[in-house]
Amino acid sequence: MTDAPFQPYPPELIERLRMWEAAHDSGVYAKRDILLVYGQGTRVWDASGQEYLDCVGGHGVTVVGHSHPRVVAALHEQAQRLITCPGSFYNDTRARLLARLGTLVPGLSRVFLANSGTEAVEAAIKFARYSTGRPNIVAAMRGFHGRTMGALSATWKKEYRAPFEPLVPGFVHAPFNNLERFASLVDDQTAAILVEVVQGEGGIHVATPEFVHGLQRLARERGALLIVDEIQSGMGRTGRLFAFQHFGLEPDMVTVAKGLGGGVPIGAVLIGKRVKPLRPGLHGSTFGGNPIAAAAALAVLDILEDERLIANAAEVGTYLIKRLREIESPLIREVRGLGLMIGVELRRKVAPYLKRLAEEEHILALPAGMNVLRLLPPLSLTHAEADRIADAVARVLSVAPMARGAADRDETTE
Ligand SMILES: Cc1ncc(COP(=O)(O)O)c(C=O)c1O
Repeated sequence: MTDAPFQPYPPELIERLRMWEAAHDSGVYAKRDILLVYGQGTRVWDASGQEYLDCVGGHGVTVVGHSHPRVVAALHEQAQRLITCPGSFYNDTRARLLARLGTLVPGLSRVFLANSGTEAVEAAIKFARYSTGRPNIVAAMRGFHGRTMGALSATWKKEYRAPFEPLVPGFVHAPFNNLERFASLVDDQTAAILVEVVQGEGGIHVATPEFVHGLQRLARERGALLIVDEIQSGMGRTGRLFAFQHFGLEPDMVTVAKGLGGGVPIGAVLIGKRVKPLRPGLHGSTFGGNPIAAAAALAVLDILEDERLIANAAEVGTYLIKRLREIESPLIREVRGLGLMIGVELRRKVAPYLKRLAEEEHILALPAGMNVLRLLPPLSLTHAEADRIADAVARVLSVAPMARGAADRDETTE
């Protein structure tokens, strides 16, 4: 154990805190047995003082690392002045953020600010229906867009959807990277095609250029809008500010969240010219665009530039993918990824290996589906940290799984 930058908590307190959360949390989260209390850059510490290299990063949130001093300072400065200001008034910090976000991508000059990824997706769906006067959304199998009713209707996984049916009507799905099947579903009733260009939760699947360019063509030809969900893949994660920029796409709307606020809740829809102008009262959010989140997001945009984090994600991501591909293990089916959005698909369930990584190697990683080990580290990851991850994954995969039953074998991601 390395020296913790804080006084470790007494074991009784750790136990009490764990019990409180277990007893009173709603119950919708499968908990890992780690109580995190401190974060700094690429590292987090549990209450006992154990340090971890964090490739969970709040599920892909920590693009600039944990508690970046410039995010902390921006929050502090803003909190002392004005914490809340609704969208019905002008605000200096929000104005600065809107000006930055509205000039990030040529053609996407208007921005709706929300508080989470799923809210950004909800807004984009509503804007697409309003703009086209059409009801239907065509999304991808294995896609994930959030858990509120509209975004959930676009999400593919049956386990997430089934308990809440009936969902919003008008949503259909076609296989990812299958242009023909998408073409068979997009018609004069289609408001939008909604896709991730790198599927995250679905197992780290990268789109082919032919597929995404075909979708853009289809949307244009048939009067639909193209919405790219960059909630996980955006903010530099894949080695470009947005993953669609690897392909030279020109989407009509882009949804952003996770990394944008440096850990503070925020979501955004970047809106293009093919979307009909929106009018007051059409949509809104009490907290959307609040000055605290806006201050954090401005700091994140500055940090990405000043610390050249996007170029680092491209370089270190390519290196880490190469190192992972060199691992010789019969347990690995495929290593996929772009920048620092990386998946190692196993021929076994991933859960026991994630546990080993945490307990033996002190590296936190997350699953994508049943059998993909997903790595979403901060974009400041160094080559030495990438080596540590690759060496640890190799060691963990060289050990036979703890209990190999039928359930442990050969699951697909979905
Ligand atoms: C691609 C994508 N879209 C939407 C969401 C939903 O975001 P949130 O959890 O902030 O609602 C996620 C979250 O994982 C995501 O990865």
